[in-house]
Amino acid sequence: MIRVENLRKAYRGVVALDGLDLDVAEGSIAALLGPNGAGKSTLIRILATLLRPDSGRAEVGGRSVTAQPYQVRALIGLTGQFTAVDDLLTGHENLVLVGRLYRLSGKEAHRLADELLGAFELGGVAGRRAGTYSGGMRRRLDLAAGLMTRPRALFLDEPTTGLDPRSRRTLWSAIRRLPEQGTTILLTTQYLEEADRLASAVTVIDRGRAIATGTPEQLKARAGGARAEVVLADPRQAPTATEVMSRYGARPTLEGETVTVPVAESALPDLLRDLDTAGVPITGLALRRPTLDDAFLALTGGDS
Ligand SMILES: Nc1ncnc2c1ncn2[C@@H]1O[C@H](COP(=O)(O)OP(=O)(O)O)[C@@H](O)[C@H]1O
Ligand SMILES: [Mg+2]
Repeated sequence: MIRVENLRKAYRGVVALDGLDLDVAEGSIAALLGPNGAGKSTLIRILATLLRPDSGRAEVGGRSVTAQPYQVRALIGLTGQFTAVDDLLTGHENLVLVGRLYRLSGKEAHRLADELLGAFELGGVAGRRAGTYSGGMRRRLDLAAGLMTRPRALFLDEPTTGLDPRSRRTLWSAIRRLPEQGTTILLTTQYLEEADRLASAVTVIDRGRAIATGTPEQLKARAGGARAEVVLADPRQAPTATEVMSRYGARPTLEGETVTVPVAESALPDLLRDLDTAGVPITGLALRRPTLDDAFLALTGGDS
C-alpha cells in the first residue's frame, strides 16, 4: 500500500532523509521507530503530499506522491502532532463538519460520526465542546476526524506522544482495530513499546535511513531480549543467586545487591520458585524489557 525507495530530502543542507526504503503491506499496521530528528515527520509529510522529496520514489496505493498528488490525497488521512480540532464545536459537530467537507451526505456524516465516537470511547462527551476535552480525548477525536474520510491509508505521526499511560492505552486499542475497516496504518513513534503493541512490521530509522526492519519480536531479539533484575535481601547470597539464575540465562551480573540475567519472560515464575527453593530471599524483582536505547545500541553497534 505504501512503497518508498531511496527517498532523499534535505532542508538547506540539513539531511532529513538519506536514502530511505520502506514497504507497508495493505491492511497492516506498520511502525516507523526512531528518535527525535530521525526524519519521521519528514517522511509522513512527503507521503501526505505536503512536502516534495529531493529524489527517490514514494507511492501510496500505487500512485506517486509527486506525479499524482491529488489521487494520493483521495486515498489518505493524516492525524498527528498538530491537531485540526475546533475547540468551539462539540466532538460530534467536529466530525460531522469534516464529513461534510469531504462531501458525505448529512445523514451519512451523522451516522459515521456516531459510529466513530462510540469506537473511540467518546460517546459520553460527544455533545461537549472539544475545548473542554482532556489531551487524550482530543487525540482520539483527532483520530476519529482522520477516519471520517474513510481513508485507505492513514498516517499517524507520534499519535500518543505526551499522553498519560491510560490515554495511551485507550488510543492503542482504538488504533489496533483500524485495519478491520480496511485502513492501512503507518505510524511513527519514539517508543519501542508502542511499536511492539501495535505494529506487525517495524522499521527502525536513524538519521534518515532505515537501519533495521522486522517484526517486533525480531527487533527485540536483536536488542538483547528481556532481563530479570533480582534484588537480594542479603548480598552474601549472591553466589547462590548467581548459580540459580545462570540456569535461566547466560552470565548473570552482580551490581550492589542486584543480580541481572537475560531471561525469557515466560521463565520468570520458575526463576522465582527456584530462588525460593534455594533459600534466597529477595526484596525486589523487575523485568526489564529492551528499550529503544537498547535496540539502538544493538543495531548501530553502539556508536549512535
Ligand atoms: N522545516 C525544517 N527546516 C530545517 N530543518 C528541518 C525542518 N524540519 C525538520 N528539519 C530537520 O530534519 C531532521 C529530521 O526532522 P524530522 O523529520 O522532524 O524528524 P522526527 O520527526 O523524526 O523528529 C532534523 O534534523 C530536523 O532538525
Ligand atoms: Mg516528528
